[in-house]
Amino acid sequence: MTSKLPDVSSTVHDLRSRVAEWRRAGEAVALVPTMGALHEGHLSLVRLGRSRARRTVTSIFVNPAQFAPTEDFDKYPRTFEDDLAKLATVGCDLVWAPNAKEMYPEGFATRVVPAGSAEGLETDFRPHFFGGVATVCTKLFMQSGADFACFGEKDFQQLCVIQQVVRDLNLPLEILPGATVREADGLAMSSRNRYLAPEQRARAVVIYDVIQRVAAAARAGPHEAALAEGTKALAAAGFGPIDYLTVRDAETLKSWSRVNGRPGRVLAAAWLGKTRLIDNVEV
Ligand code: PAJ
Repeated sequence: MTSKLPDVSSTVHDLRSRVAEWRRAGEAVALVPTMGALHEGHLSLVRLGRSRARRTVTSIFVNPAQFAPTEDFDKYPRTFEDDLAKLATVGCDLVWAPNAKEMYPEGFATRVVPAGSAEGLETDFRPHFFGGVATVCTKLFMQSGADFACFGEKDFQQLCVIQQVVRDLNLPLEILPGATVREADGLAMSSRNRYLAPEQRARAVVIYDVIQRVAAAARAGPHEAALAEGTKALAAAGFGPIDYLTVRDAETLKSWSRVNGRPGRVLAAAWLGKTRLIDNVEV
């Protein structure tokens, strides 16, 4: 079956007029924000959006505001034509692909700076990250006027932060969380996995093995020993530095203890060579 390539909008004006047409026809709209270099994890979010809304918009924008000067903005993979072909296979209607000037015109000076669930974890290592993410996502929500926006559990803290921003600012849309899509060996799919050399790729799955072992321990009793063993297992597989390996409350991302009966989440971020991997699982 040949599927039609999605249309592409590159100005806010064009995006709004297309969405307005759908609205006039009474059609709901789901947005899937991405930075491109699409894989099955992204495509699963488009399918999730389609399960709730007649129309789906996927944004592709490598957001400079969420990269520190030392990070991989310049070498972040850009595979636009390939992305369009993949989106065609899942029936995405429209790709929203602004350039940096359209997103951040001259004189742009407003930021959304989340606290709460944005504190700690990623913020300890990437202090400006969630300000950049919350600002661009708020803009994407307002530009598209979507009824739903889909976010992956793969970036669990990001999902919590976006849910908090939507709640705090009364943004008129519903966030739909999508489960993490994994490779056959269990490694969470990520646009950055392509940075891994073959021998690193073979060891990368250890991060998933470790968080699963910590989750099993936390379900059964005290998990401190599992954290210590997990740290050792990561180091033995060549990971380092290990930014964090921790069990947190799945909603607030503050400390978690089994005795309170609240949902927990095991979260980890660690470097394998020059690639930073993050992953998480439910307790
Ligand atoms: P990006 O890394 O491209 O991810 C876009 C969306 O895909 C995010 O919601 C992310 O959680 C989800 N995703 C990535 N890998 C996944 C996987 N293996 N399984 C399920 N979902 C997965 O996250 C960003 O872009 C940016 O920060 C963005 C939100 C677009 C703001 O710039």
